[in-house]
Amino acid sequence: MKSADIRQAFLEFFKQHGHTEVHSSSLIPNNDPTLLFVNAGMVPFKNVFLGQEKRPYVRATSAQRCVRAGGKHNDLDNVGYTARHHTFFEMLGNFSFGDYFKREVIGFAWTFLTDVLKLPKDRLWVTVHVTDDEAADIWINEIGVPADRLTRLEEDNFWQMGDTGPCGPSSEIFYDHGPDVAGGPPGSPDEDGDRYIEIWNLVFMQYDRDESGNLNPLPRPSIDTGMGLERIAAVMQGVHSNYEIDLFQNLLKAAAELTGQADINQPSLRVIADHIRSCSFLISDGVMPGNEGRGYVLRRIIRRAVRHGHKMGAREPFFHKLVATLDAEMGQAYPELHKQSEHIARVLLKEEEQFERTLDHGMKLLDESIAALDGNVLSGDTIFKLYDTYGFPYDLTADVARERGIVLDEKGFEAALEEQRARARAASKFSADAQTVIDIDTQTDFVGYEHTEGEGLVLALLDSEGQHCDQLTDGQEGTVVLDHTPFYAESGGQVGDTGVLVAEGVCFRVTDTYKNAAGQWFHRGQVENGAVSVGLSVTADVDDLRRDDIRRNHSATHLLHEALRRVLGDHVQQKGSLVTPDHLRFDFSHFEAVTPEQLREVEQIANAEIRANTPVTTRIMSVDDARALGARALFDAKYGEDVRVLTMGREDFSIELCGGTHVARTGDIGLCHIVSEGSVASGIRRIEAVTGKSALDAFLAKEDSIGRMAAALKARPEQCEVRLEAALAHQRDLEQELTRLKSRLAHFASQELVEQARDVAGVKLLVATPEGISSKELRGMVETLRQKLSSGVVLLSVVDGDRVSLAAGVTADLTDRVKAGALVNAVACQVGGKGGGRPDLAQAGGNQPEHLQQALASVDAWLVEQLQA
Ligand code: ALA
Repeated sequence: MKSADIRQAFLEFFKQHGHTEVHSSSLIPNNDPTLLFVNAGMVPFKNVFLGQEKRPYVRATSAQRCVRAGGKHNDLDNVGYTARHHTFFEMLGNFSFGDYFKREVIGFAWTFLTDVLKLPKDRLWVTVHVTDDEAADIWINEIGVPADRLTRLEEDNFWQMGDTGPCGPSSEIFYDHGPDVAGGPPGSPDEDGDRYIEIWNLVFMQYDRDESGNLNPLPRPSIDTGMGLERIAAVMQGVHSNYEIDLFQNLLKAAAELTGQADINQPSLRVIADHIRSCSFLISDGVMPGNEGRGYVLRRIIRRAVRHGHKMGAREPFFHKLVATLDAEMGQAYPELHKQSEHIARVLLKEEEQFERTLDHGMKLLDESIAALDGNVLSGDTIFKLYDTYGFPYDLTADVARERGIVLDEKGFEAALEEQRARARAASKFSADAQTVIDIDTQTDFVGYEHTEGEGLVLALLDSEGQHCDQLTDGQEGTVVLDHTPFYAESGGQVGDTGVLVAEGVCFRVTDTYKNAAGQWFHRGQVENGAVSVGLSVTADVDDLRRDDIRRNHSATHLLHEALRRVLGDHVQQKGSLVTPDHLRFDFSHFEAVTPEQLREVEQIANAEIRANTPVTTRIMSVDDARALGARALFDAKYGEDVRVLTMGREDFSIELCGGTHVARTGDIGLCHIVSEGSVASGIRRIEAVTGKSALDAFLAKEDSIGRMAAALKARPEQCEVRLEAALAHQRDLEQELTRLKSRLAHFASQELVEQARDVAGVKLLVATPEGISSKELRGMVETLRQKLSSGVVLLSVVDGDRVSLAAGVTADLTDRVKAGALVNAVACQVGGKGGGRPDLAQAGGNQPEHLQQALASVDAWLVEQLQA
C-alpha cells in the first residue's frame, strides 16, 4: 500500500464515522505564539480543546504536516540514528471535541488497524497510563488484547503539546517488527530499539496545564490521536525502517547521486532525505533562514544536511537540487510546495553557499580540537567559537561529536552564549501595551468600521505610570478605557487612531490607541479641559482626515501586495507592514532587488484597480471558508474561528484576511506611488509608497524640483534632459581643450624660462618660480627644462597658500658633481621641510613660504661649493 493510499484510507475511514476532514494547516501555528512549529495534528485545534473556539463540528480528521525540530518535541538529534525519527512527518489524526471518549477511540483505532489495514493482531502491543484502569479494561476485556501485551507506563503515557496547553493520559499502540530487529517491548530496558515501534498515540485530553504547572480540567473530555504516516507506511510496506518506504526512495537515490555516494544505506543520506523535507516545507510556509527563532531552526537543519553532504565528499552546493525530487514526490499532495519550488531552491542554494565558505575551516578547527583533547569533553569555548565564527549550530557540533564518541561541555557553551540569549529574549517580548492587564472584565466594542464618532462609557482610567485611578484632570496624561469606541487600536501594522473624547466641559486629546490581549481599548493622551472620571459618558470623535489617509494607505497595501505577487511570483509573502497616515511600508519575501521596470508594472497594476473604482467588500466567515476562497493571511497572525475577509479590485483582485480599516471604493485611494525599494534582511525586500494627497505632493515636489532645474538651465522643463546632456557634453569638450592649452602653456613657459638660465662657475643654472603652474606639474616641467638645457641645473618652486613645493633636476653629464636630491634638500631645509631623491630628479616640500626668496638666493653659492669640491 502506497503512503498516499494509506493517507486516503485513513481520512475516508474517519469521514465514514462522522468526522469532518480538515486540510493540513501551515507549519507556522496561527493560534499560538508560544509554539515554534506545528508539531502534532492537534495544534490547529488547540483552542477548540480549550473551549475558547467553537467549530461547526465535534469530530474532525486530518493529515497534518508536522515539524519536530525545536521546543518540547524535538527529534532533530535522533535523525540519522534511528529508523523512525524525522524532523518532518505527516501525522494522521482523529479528534473529538467533547464528543466521544476512550471506549470509542480505542474501538476506532483497533478497527482501522485490524479491519481496514488488516494488521495481524498478534503483532500489536498497547500501553496505558499507570493509573488508567478504565483504558486497560477496555483493551483487555472489550478488545481482547492479551494482558501480557499491555504495559502500564507513567511518563510515556501522558502527552502534552508543550509546557502549557491541552494534555492528558494516553494509550499507545505499538507494532512488533519481529525478532530480526533489535529492541524490546515498551517499558523494557531496550525499548529504544527499532523492533517495537509506536505507531499510534491516543490521547485522552482532559487537562489544560497552566504556567505554574497546574492541571486544570478541560470543559469537556476530548480525544486527540496521532499516527505517523511514515511509520505505518513502513509497517504496510513490510520494511523495518521509515527510510525504506516509497516516499523516501527517490530522495535517497537523488541524494546519493548528488553526493557521489555508492552505499544507499549510508545514514548521512537519510539525514539529507529527511532534512530536505522539513526545510522545503518550512520555506514554503514562509520561514526564512535567520539567526533567531524559527529562522534559526531552519538554518540549523540546512547546515546539518550540508555538513552530512560534506562528510560524504560533496564540495559543491547539492542540497537545493533535491527540491526538484521532493516536488516530484510530494508536489501533487501539497500544491503549496509545488508552486514555490523554485523559490525554495534559491533560498537553499544561497544558504548553502554561505555556509560552505566557513564549513571547511570550521571542520578543520573541530578536527584539530578533537585530536588535541585530553579526555572526551569538547570545551564550551571551542563550541562557541565554532558557533560564532564558523556558523556551526550547537547541534551540528554535537552531531559530529556523537560520531566520534565525544561529549560537549554544554554549560560552558551556554555561558558563552548568555549575551546573545539575552538579546533574543528581549526581542521576543511582546510590547508592553498588548500585555497591559486591568481589573475589569468588560471588553471594548469596536464600532470604528462603520463610524468615526460614537458614544462610550469610561470603564477605567490609568495614570501616566499605568496605575488605575478614578480621575484624570486638566493637563494630566493617561489612558482611558471605553466600553464602545470608534478608535482603531494599533494592530496588523496599522497605527492607532487619534482624536478627542469630549463631554460637557471635558476634552481629552487622544494621541494613540492600542488594545490588550483581553480586547480592551486604551486611548492614550492628555486632558485638555475639565476632568475625565470613571463612569463618564463621552463622545469619541476620531480625527477623520487622518483616518481617511490611513484607510487609503491600508487598502493600497493590499493592492500592492497582490500586484507584487502577480509581477514577481507566488513566492511573494507578506513579512510585515506599517500603515500610517503619511505612507505605507510593505515587507515581503523576494530574493533580489525589484527592477525599476517591475516596480513600474506593480504601480500600473495597482493604479488600474484604483481607477476601476470598484467597491471594497468585507465579509465575516470561518477560517475554512476563507481558505477555500483563497484568502491570503499574514504569516503568524492570530485568528479565531471567524475571520474578516476583505476583497477589493476587479474579479476579486485581492482577497485578504484583515482587521484594518479600509476605503469604501478603490477610487478613494486616488493615486498610489512607490517611493522606494530596498533590502531589509536576507531574502526580504521593502517597498514604501504614498497615496492620495501624499502621492500628489510627491509628484508636485518632483515637478517643483524639475522646474528649478529648468530655470537654472534656462530651458522649458521638457527640454531639461536634452539641455543637460548638451551642457555635459560641452563641459567635456571644454575640459579637453583646457588640458591641451595647459600643456601648450607649459611648453611656452619653459621656453621662456630656459632663457633665464645663468652661467654659474661654468654651469647653466636656472632657478625660477614659474607662474600658472601647479605643484602637480612641477616635476614634468623640470624634466622638460633639463632636456632643453642639455647641460645644466634646474630648481623650480611653487607656492600654494602655506605650502612650498620644490623640484630639482640635473642633466646626466653633471650628476657626478651635483646631485638633484642634495640641491632640493638644501633649499627645503630653509623653508621648514626636508627632501631628497634621485641625483637627476628630486622633489621636496616645505611650509614656510616667507623664507623662500632667501633660500632661492642661496642656490648660487651652494652650486659653486658643489663644483669646487
Ligand atoms: N498529539 C498526540 C501526539 O502527537 C497524538 O502524539
